[in-house]
Amino acid sequence: MSPRPLNVGLVGGGKGAFIVQPHQRAIHMDGTRRVTAGALFPDPAVALEEAAHWPYPIRGYGSYVEMLEAQARLPKEERLDYILIVTPNHVHFDPAMRAIRAGIPVFCEKPLCLNLAEANKLVRAVRQARLPFGVAHTYLGHWTTRLARYIVRRGLLGEVRWVDSYYLQGWLATRLEATGQPQATWRTNPKLAGGSGCGGDIGTHALMHLRYITGLEVKSLSAQLETFVQGRALDDHFTVYCDLHNGGKALVRASQICIGQKNDLGITVAGTQGTLRWRQEEPESLTVHLPHQPDRVYWRGAIQSGDGFLPKDKALEALLTEPTIPPGHGEAFHDAFARLHRFFEADVRLWKAGHKFACNGAHYASVEDGWTGMAFINTCLKSAAKRGAWTAMPRLG
Ligand SMILES: NC(=O)c1ccc[n+]([C@@H]2O[C@H](COP(=O)([O-])OP(=O)(O)OC[C@H]3O[C@@H](n4cnc5c(N)ncnc54)[C@H](O)[C@@H]3O)[C@@H](O)[C@H]2O)c1
Repeated sequence: MSPRPLNVGLVGGGKGAFIVQPHQRAIHMDGTRRVTAGALFPDPAVALEEAAHWPYPIRGYGSYVEMLEAQARLPKEERLDYILIVTPNHVHFDPAMRAIRAGIPVFCEKPLCLNLAEANKLVRAVRQARLPFGVAHTYLGHWTTRLARYIVRRGLLGEVRWVDSYYLQGWLATRLEATGQPQATWRTNPKLAGGSGCGGDIGTHALMHLRYITGLEVKSLSAQLETFVQGRALDDHFTVYCDLHNGGKALVRASQICIGQKNDLGITVAGTQGTLRWRQEEPESLTVHLPHQPDRVYWRGAIQSGDGFLPKDKALEALLTEPTIPPGHGEAFHDAFARLHRFFEADVRLWKAGHKFACNGAHYASVEDGWTGMAFINTCLKSAAKRGAWTAMPRLG
């Protein structure tokens, strides 16, 4: 008999919220997970109303506190298997801590929380509780991101000299927050978003992509946080030059004022033997440039190991046999989310059965990765306050 689907509880997601939608579709994509409960809105009456009108039946709660406290009263098999936090950044820490204390695994939206002090506490709590915790850095879930990681970490480009990791958008090129647009309103408020606007919102994705693919850490950095739109309290343009711990250099940049640019997350990794390029707006392929050779464009689903560049080894075979759909039937954003939830589900099932689980950042971002994102933002704020002075990144103990 197949195991019952995992039950997921939502924190946030009511009244036209954005990121809950791709998540809930991705949760249901394999039939092995489902959303069964939610505390969808800060106002209890609205939260219950929203749950009652959810497109499929879920148990509504007036608040996440109520939802998490109720778990302890339920028979073990009826408890939530994990919660998904899709609230603005200032409502990540508290529900995450409460869930950890209640012994419930957490999949949390990025950035991990509001500041480094909260991140420190979360890392400690997760390590103590020894339960699965994931951070929703969506773009790690693209199959081609996994291939890029394999290529770079396997040393197929030689030693990494230079990385340009970027995320460019244009939707905040005007003062959208003044119109009351909900997503713009909280993202430009330091109390709700954190110390950096653009950097925290999408610069953390660019950093995570760099670290996931290359395995390299930022040693020190020089940051410029700029605000182009008048009257805005937080940066809308974020540029960080980085020393990497292998001696290489990187640019981590993000902008929300580039009119016409949509969700242009991309990365160029230049090594001593070749260069790799990838963009999330065209996530089905990546390009490898080798000296004196035609460009190699690798498409998901149409790859042979032992082709003169990609070797034959176990890691590549594991990647090539990962479930996906045939090439040409496009995978994109929802599939990336589904891949993250699929691997998180596997860890939750191992944990429930009392087995060792991975949760090591290989398949989705870990709480430690979330911490690094917060440490990066904190270091950028310090550097920017001193007009871009080179500032060392802290390391997690
Ligand atoms: N991984 C990604 O690609 C990605 C993309 C977009 C947003 N995000 C992240 O997801 C989070 C949400 O962003 P969004 O754009 O969906 O925001 P949103 O404003 O569209 O949705 C937030 C939801 O949280 C609810 N909420 C707020 N406080 C609450 C509380 N105390 N209890 C219950 N619900 C509460 C709001 O009512 C709303 O339903 C943010 O942390 C953001 O950084 C990640």
